[in-house]
Amino acid sequence: MNAPTTTPEAVAWHLQGNWAPVFDEIEAGPLKVTGEIPKDLFGDYVRVGMNPRSGHSDHWFSGNGMLHSVQLENGQAHYRNRYVRTPYYEADMTMMSGMFDPAASPANTNIIRHAGQWLALEEAHLPWAVDRDLNTIGAHDYGGKLTGAMTAHPRECPETGELLFFGYQLARAPHLTYYRVDRAGQMVEAEPIDLPNPVMMHDWNVTRNHVVFMDLPVVFDLGAAMKGQAPLSFKREAGARLGVMKRNGAKGQVRWFEIEPCYVFHPVNAYEQGDKIVIHVCRQQQAMVGGFSNLYGGEATTGKIWRWTIDLAKGTVSEEQIDDAASDFPRVNDSLVGLKAQFGYTSSLNERAPSLTLGQYLYKYDLDSGKKQVRDFGASNHLGEPIFIPRPGAKAEDDGWIMALKHDEAIDQSALVILNAQDFDGEAVATITMPRRIPYGAHGNWMSR
Ligand SMILES: [Fe+2]
Repeated sequence: MNAPTTTPEAVAWHLQGNWAPVFDEIEAGPLKVTGEIPKDLFGDYVRVGMNPRSGHSDHWFSGNGMLHSVQLENGQAHYRNRYVRTPYYEADMTMMSGMFDPAASPANTNIIRHAGQWLALEEAHLPWAVDRDLNTIGAHDYGGKLTGAMTAHPRECPETGELLFFGYQLARAPHLTYYRVDRAGQMVEAEPIDLPNPVMMHDWNVTRNHVVFMDLPVVFDLGAAMKGQAPLSFKREAGARLGVMKRNGAKGQVRWFEIEPCYVFHPVNAYEQGDKIVIHVCRQQQAMVGGFSNLYGGEATTGKIWRWTIDLAKGTVSEEQIDDAASDFPRVNDSLVGLKAQFGYTSSLNERAPSLTLGQYLYKYDLDSGKKQVRDFGASNHLGEPIFIPRPGAKAEDDGWIMALKHDEAIDQSALVILNAQDFDGEAVATITMPRRIPYGAHGNWMSR
């Protein structure tokens, strides 16, 4: 294993401070708790992040995936972390060297559970199955039916239990494929879709009857990539479109709607209302204006909550900004994915920082009114994705808890905070001190038992 060879001045933002990787794989517990962990919380909070094993990676996106889990049981918490051991990890690959092997996933972007299977995801490769102890099982290709990439943002339909996802590939056509997996984990539909440009399609939308693709102009340039230049850049002139397709049996038939060029890493949620599809998103004016490696370019590249309303009868899209606060990593109550959810939860971003910086606030949006509640953790704290966990037997949408990792840079300490979602700015239900620094990362989920 190589030590970092760069001088401190040359260290990229994604390798500094609490973005920097940790190397040991440990188990620890019971962990120190301030407050009380609800006894109803029985399961695993699991999050993945970019954690280059060599200490260096050529891009934030390309670090090896490391899983962190906090197991909650009887009011106690235990911690564990493990790398996902894919060929990308074993051969210490890079974004470019790993590009043409579908199994060579960094597995660093999301961890989900579907049909009892835990899958570690990164959007340019196959999913990787792992077990509850975070041991790597192997690439998961749905019995050979999945031959290419799977998005890191599939959606499980709360009504049918299906897993809906897409895969995009940059270097050759089809640039986009849609997949539907039944609740038992069997792939039942795979449809190639025409797309004019090879674009980075990080996330998407589902509703009760439709899926909505986002063809947004972060465009791939193979020639530039082969010359070692930026493989992806924001090209406003390529335009932007939303593609509405029936969830079942559409045979790739998509109805496209032009929108203002922009970029969206993450939608909050989408739902149908008569002939309309309403989508809330964390919308950026642009992407990668700070360059491919820096990603960040201040205010133009942070997400703000917008609402898109697609009118299927009139063939129009209206676009309206709901709030000007910068935030991303949106979540809703997962039982309302694709249905009308009133509340969306996001983590704030600090627009005054020179590189991508998680902020000190969590937000709870009323998506109807656009009003938000602000939870302030203090200036030295940086908050990750807020996950909603329903209380058993809950009647109200927000009857449950918010879980998020935070890192206090003043004391270099990470903690998992648990909030009462209905008392969003009140006293935390529990703050669980992590036995080690947990680097800022990507997405996670609550795996109830
Ligand atoms: Fe994401």
